[in-house]
Amino acid sequence: MKKIAVLVSGGGSNLQSIIDSVESGYLNIQIAVVLSNKEDSYGLTRAKNHGIPTQVVSHGDFNSREEFENRLIQVLDGYDVELVVLAGFMRVLTPLFVNHYHHRIINIHPAILPAFPGTHGQKQALDYGVRFSGCTTHFVDEGTDTGPIIIQAIVPVLSDDTEESLGLRILREEHRIFPESLKLWSEGRILIEGRKVKILQKISTEA
Ligand code: GAR
Repeated sequence: MKKIAVLVSGGGSNLQSIIDSVESGYLNIQIAVVLSNKEDSYGLTRAKNHGIPTQVVSHGDFNSREEFENRLIQVLDGYDVELVVLAGFMRVLTPLFVNHYHHRIINIHPAILPAFPGTHGQKQALDYGVRFSGCTTHFVDEGTDTGPIIIQAIVPVLSDDTEESLGLRILREEHRIFPESLKLWSEGRILIEGRKVKILQKISTEA
């Protein structure tokens, strides 16, 4: 079974959707470790509640991003993971980390990329006045939210939306497309061609 690491910084509702998908049998993968850069991340509690090993690597303990990332790599490689899943991990990753896990990092972003990259994608959408926003799963490259896109989902932006109400509507879609993206990956159905992702048809095992 393929092993993954999930990296979180906050509440971890996306992590929960992945855990639930594993426990229901929808996802045939093992969450080998949940790692956070914040020791008070509720995502760590969610992992512990489900018997998943946890690790904390606090970015504040290091003098540079590179030192921080070298430690991340050391810890994650200790779990022999094939994929690093960023589920609300709020640290920019440098080429050091990204190249070590080339095409092996998947992120979820709360906007329809390439619109509104970086932080506060929900607020950026509201401030801009778009009628629709949503979320994107993508492989991580050296840019900020610029890597090959796997799945996107769209939600309407309502005239009385707040950052929170829009964020919740987007989160519901995140909880659907993140497990779906990981399923495609675990089934070997993702082909990366340049900056495009090709989804391969499922091969029928029936005679
Ligand atoms: C999610 O909305 C995710 O898309 C966003 O953080 C939230 C984490 O929620 N990620 C980013 O903004 C990355 N730039 P969660 O902790 O409840 O999964």
